[in-house]
Amino acid sequence: MTTRADGRKILVVGVGGLGRAVVEEALDRGAEVSVLVRDPDKLARSVDVRRLAAVTVGDGTDPATLDRAVAGVDVVVSGNGAHKRMAREIARAVKRNGVQKLIWPAGGTNAFADDGVTPAYKLHEGRFPGARDIYLAHQGCIDAIRQVGVNHVIWAPGRMTARGARSRDIEVKVDRSAGMYVSYEDAAWVIVEAAVTDAWDGHLVSAATQTGG
Ligand SMILES: NC(=O)c1ccc[n+]([C@@H]2O[C@H](COP(=O)([O-])OP(=O)(O)OC[C@H]3O[C@@H](n4cnc5c(N)ncnc54)[C@H](OP(=O)(O)O)[C@@H]3O)[C@@H](O)[C@H]2O)c1
Repeated sequence: MTTRADGRKILVVGVGGLGRAVVEEALDRGAEVSVLVRDPDKLARSVDVRRLAAVTVGDGTDPATLDRAVAGVDVVVSGNGAHKRMAREIARAVKRNGVQKLIWPAGGTNAFADDGVTPAYKLHEGRFPGARDIYLAHQGCIDAIRQVGVNHVIWAPGRMTARGARSRDIEVKVDRSAGMYVSYEDAAWVIVEAAVTDAWDGHLVSAATQTGG
């Protein structure tokens, strides 16, 4: 079931592949969507900016820029991950401004194996030599957000690419790795669901694209 987002005020910080898909999904569900980007011309090439409630131009690590962008917003979604300073500054801005929730992208390596205790990167270490470093980069961001102490959902995807449409069948797992590939469109569905419900608050959520759109 897809939850409507009518009137929900969602800010997306960084509109790359994932951020663009989140903007589209949130707009389609009736949310009031604003963005913070470094390059407004690049934004205009990927999103119909007339559909946006506001565009803030600046760096997602700058406290003053963040304060302007998050004012009056219900949920902040970061479209950029593996950036500890950005994670900390966005979390601080969320806290200062009374925003209800921060959704942050980490990686599939940060969810757990089915035993619930083994970090998923250990499953891939042998055939994926960089797995531990990727895990550590993302984990630093997760720890920074938890240290600031804000309500949050950590999005823990494997590889993401655009497929042009949502799949018919998205497998979602909480705190467990669902798999190592998910489309941007399926990722955006999970993230907007996390934005408008409290089902996954405080948890990592992972999903895998199963079938064609
Ligand atoms: N793609 C994957 O396969 C994958 C897998 C697992 C996890 N992830 C995580 O998910 C995140 C999103 O993935 P993606 O594929 O959408 O990445 P992406 O296309 O590179 O998008 C990242 C966006 O973040 C923006 N950004 C970076 N630093 C910023 C800053 N300081 N202030 C404002 N905006 C900033 C970039 O803006 P500019 O356009 O100005 O550069 C870009 O638009 C990644 O950062 C990664 O940590 C990705």
